[in-house]
Amino acid sequence: MNIIDGKKLASDIREELSREVQEILRSGGRAPHLAAVLVGADPASQVYVRNKVRSCEKVGFRSTLVQKPADITESELLAIVDGLNRDESVDGFIVQLPLPRHINEEKITLAIRPDKDVDGFHPVNFGRMAQGLPCYLPATPAGILEMIRRYEIPTDGKEVVVVGRSNIVGTPISILLSRKAYPGNATVTMCHSRTKGLAAHIHRADILVAAIGSPEFIRGDMVKPGAVVIDVGMNRVEAPGSETGYRLCGDVDFESVAPKASLITPVPGGVGQLTVVSLLVNTLKAARREVYRD
Ligand code: GUN
Repeated sequence: MNIIDGKKLASDIREELSREVQEILRSGGRAPHLAAVLVGADPASQVYVRNKVRSCEKVGFRSTLVQKPADITESELLAIVDGLNRDESVDGFIVQLPLPRHINEEKITLAIRPDKDVDGFHPVNFGRMAQGLPCYLPATPAGILEMIRRYEIPTDGKEVVVVGRSNIVGTPISILLSRKAYPGNATVTMCHSRTKGLAAHIHRADILVAAIGSPEFIRGDMVKPGAVVIDVGMNRVEAPGSETGYRLCGDVDFESVAPKASLITPVPGGVGQLTVVSLLVNTLKAARREVYRD
C-alpha cells in the first residue's frame, strides 16, 4: 500500500504556478487576479475561502475577498456578480456555496460570465466539459485527474466506480474518466443512494472514487485487493477529548481499506489539497485567456 501525498503534489504545483507568475511579471504582465465572494458566516465556508485567498498569496496571485452579511438580498448579490463580470482587473471569481436559503444559487451561478467562472459551475462550462471542449474544469475533479497523471495511474480499460452523483464531483469525474483521453478511457459506473447491490459494484473497482459525504462508509471488506482508492469525503465527526472536539475524516475507513489498496488518498492531506490549487490553475488560464479567447 502506498499513500498519495496530496500535500507534496499541491506544493509542487504551487511552485510551478509561482514560476509562471514570475515569468508573466518579468515580461511586463500583471499577476492573475482571483476574487471570492463569501456570504454569511458559515464556519466551513470561511475556512475554505480563507484557504483560497492564502493559496493565492503563496503563488503571487492577486486576490480580493468580498464579504457580505447573510441578509444580503439576491438582487444585491447579483449586482456584485455583475460588477465582477465587468471588472477588467478580475480574471476569475467564485461565489462560495452554499448561499443562504433566500438566495437562488442557480440564478447566481448563471449570472457569472462563463469566461470568469473559474469554479467551472456554470452550465456552459459543464456542457463544454461533457463535450470535451476547452473549459474550466471543476476543481475537485481536476485535482483528481492531476493526481492520477502525476502518479501515472493507468486508467485505460480500467473499471472505475464512482460513489456519489453530485454536480461538482461525482457526475463530472464520471464523465472525465470515460472520455477518450488520459486520464480516461475507463469503464465508469456511477453509483448513488438508489443503487442496488452497491457493495458488489464497489468490489469490482480497479479505481474507486468515494464522494458520498458519509463518514468512513467504505470499509476494507468492500474493496478489491490492489484497488486505487480516491477519497473525496471531508466529514467532521465528534472526537471527545481532542483539542477541538472533532476530527476530519473521509468517506473511506482508512484503517481497514489502506492495507488492501495499492494506492490510497488520506483525509486530510489528499484530494482536498489539490482542489484549491486547481482553482489557481483555472485562474491562471483565465488570466491567459486560454479557454475563452477574445
Ligand atoms: N462550496 C464547497 N465547495 C465549493 C467550491 O469548490 N466552490 C464554491 N464556490 N463553493 C463551494
